[in-house]
Amino acid sequence: MSSTATFMSSTAASSAASSSAPASSTAASSAASSSAPASSGTSAAASGAPVDALTGVSAIPDGGSLVVKVGGEPIALARKGNDVLAFTAVCPHQQCTVGSAGATLQCPCHGSEFDAFTGAVLQGPAKVPLAAIPVKVQGDQVVRA
Ligand code: FES
Repeated sequence: MSSTATFMSSTAASSAASSSAPASSTAASSAASSSAPASSGTSAAASGAPVDALTGVSAIPDGGSLVVKVGGEPIALARKGNDVLAFTAVCPHQQCTVGSAGATLQCPCHGSEFDAFTGAVLQGPAKVPLAAIPVKVQGDQVVRA
């Protein structure tokens, strides 16, 4: 939930950046597009987060899961203490985005259910597990490994 707010604020920041420099539109648009990752980095830096952070460790419920969107990619995170695992949140059945349901991940489209800590299928129709995404904990943030 908090990551949604992060994306909303970075969207607001980039639209503010593009509307604040109408005089040199070419320079403004190239600056805006090249600064898009930097602006999310700026807001992350303001909170002390690494630029490539997926989310804060504490945002993931201990013993549970959280689904975030990073660069448009839905990622399911699960945490036990300071150990964090990540999987694609794209259902292998027909590519719906799965949602967090405690220690499981549930697909709203046809009811597939996955173990949030292993990605394994607990209930079909999906037949293959969610693919793992290598991550590590860096400070209080989860980053790609
Ligand atoms: S798309 Fe997930 S169960 Fe069908």
